[in-house]
Amino acid sequence: SQYQIAVVVGSLRRDSFNRKLATAIAKLAPSEFVFKQVQIGDLPLYNQDDDANQAEAVKRLKAEITGAQGLLFVTAEYNRSIPGVLKNAIDHASRPYGQSAWAGKPAGVIGVSLGAVGTALSQQHLRNVLAYLDVPTLGQPEAFVQAKDGLFDAAGDIGADSKPFLQGWMDNYVSWVKKHNS
Ligand code: FNR
Repeated sequence: SQYQIAVVVGSLRRDSFNRKLATAIAKLAPSEFVFKQVQIGDLPLYNQDDDANQAEAVKRLKAEITGAQGLLFVTAEYNRSIPGVLKNAIDHASRPYGQSAWAGKPAGVIGVSLGAVGTALSQQHLRNVLAYLDVPTLGQPEAFVQAKDGLFDAAGDIGADSKPFLQGWMDNYVSWVKKHNS
């Protein structure tokens, strides 16, 4: 069987390290896992007044999440928390009340930042939100990645130094998604 994974990247930056990480780490999964980065940059700012009349971009996001067997959040850290664009997307797909797209979807959380903190605080805040949304999130291993030379090779794949660790992370993520879909 196939596992569709909705990948949510917490950065809109053109040359985002997190987007690169999302693309590269997907290649470490078995071929039965199909990763698709969902678009969040065209979502309007969340406004509860629109709950009964969600924008097309919101409906698209919700359909992509609903149709997925797993979630992968790859997020930047902004001011020791998650970027607003990510929270905006999460809020949109959680509504209207009782019709959240997130509930029950197994998830993994990773991220890369310039600082040695490696998005640890962003990820911790995200875990808090996901717990409320009833998203079972892989606890271990954690992956706090620092952007430095060699993280990606010339082809954009995970570099040799980081590969064993991130392969281990992916193997655990794959097991987690399968467990929650059996
Ligand atoms: C940052 N950056 C940052 N880094 C970090 O480790 N902890 C932090 O709290 C912050 N705060 C922060 C706030 C804002 C508004 C910006 C723009 C940046 C730096 C951040 O790690 C860096 O810009 C990364 O390149 C962001 O990830 P992407 O866009 O490359 O995926």
